Amino acid sequence: EKGGYDHFMLKEIYEQPRAIKDTYRGRLLADQGIIRMAGIDQNLEKFLNANRIIIVACGTSWHAGLVAEYIFEDLARIPVEVEYASEFRYRNPVITENDILIAISQSGETADTLAAIKMAKERGAFVFGVCNVVGSSIARETDAGAYTHAGPEIGVASTKAFTTQITVLTLIALKLAKEKGTIEESKYHEYLVELEGIPAKVERTLKTNPLIEEIAEVYKDSSNCLYLGRGYNFPVALEGALKLKEISYIHAEGYPAAEMKHGPIALIDEEMPVVVIATRKGHYEKVVSNVQEIKSRSGKIIAVVTEGDQQVTDLADHVVEVPETSETLTPLLTTIPLQLLSYHIALMRGCNVDQPRNLAKSVTVE
Ligand code: M6R
Repeated sequence: EKGGYDHFMLKEIYEQPRAIKDTYRGRLLADQGIIRMAGIDQNLEKFLNANRIIIVACGTSWHAGLVAEYIFEDLARIPVEVEYASEFRYRNPVITENDILIAISQSGETADTLAAIKMAKERGAFVFGVCNVVGSSIARETDAGAYTHAGPEIGVASTKAFTTQITVLTLIALKLAKEKGTIEESKYHEYLVELEGIPAKVERTLKTNPLIEEIAEVYKDSSNCLYLGRGYNFPVALEGALKLKEISYIHAEGYPAAEMKHGPIALIDEEMPVVVIATRKGHYEKVVSNVQEIKSRSGKIIAVVTEGDQQVTDLADHVVEVPETSETLTPLLTTIPLQLLSYHIALMRGCNVDQPRNLAKSVTVE
């Protein structure tokens, strides 16, 4: 059942090229320039007239929501708020009939997310679900939705659910951008082609695995780790940190790189590994200066860079290269090395990778 892999988590990491493809299959028709999604098509007016999209989720799904916020605002020019379901449901939020709530959940059973949906519905919002488990409670409770086709995710650490959630949300954003006319025709077509090519680039990124295993060997005994990224890769930094803490029990924190100087920089010394996402398209020069700041304080730098990178490569202690893609789609690639890093570190520390302590695959209690 693990298909020759030692753990479900590793199997699921490696399934990502297939999972992403399955998620866009039949929806992304790049040669025709069409995105077909029944749940959106049938409710197009609602989406086009929406004043605001509110995304609610927990954990990794919340991180996918943050990536979606950047994409929706950037491409479709719709204001987006992303909220932890647990906070949203208890804080008497302002919800109107012109709001669309998107709930993201792999399991479709997360109690707080389900409760947030119920509240939003009572207050008149249109509720759209992005779930992986077919027929799950959230899938049933929402007005419409789009499934991720990741296949069953068994490992408690969410991997392929995350990248397929981003895939679905990217498709939605592109479709709405096209309908609203907020994207240039040529740019739209470029995105479709680029998204179609992502599985092959994920495949290539997975080839960094032996290198990541070597890096894991160096840092497996660390007691802390920082993850930094900017823009589209800020949520990826959060996700990398969550992955490491939940399966290896190493304290890790993700930050927008520029926030370092507002506090976290005080933590940096020669004992502190800092994972920096420094891909070429996306505030590259700014990230380079963040890397310099870490280096001058003797922090250890593990950088995720674009193939052929020079500047960060010269400064970093370790570099992992990912293929070039549009900035919007980089999270689908930069996430992969971080998943692998947490997997190897957890394994080397003797942790139960698939079933970390104190955690359940679906959190059906508040
Ligand atoms: O099933 P859901 O997507 O609603 O689950 C949300 C979180 O519980 C989940 O993403 C959790 O954070 C994972 N263990 C992270 O790897």
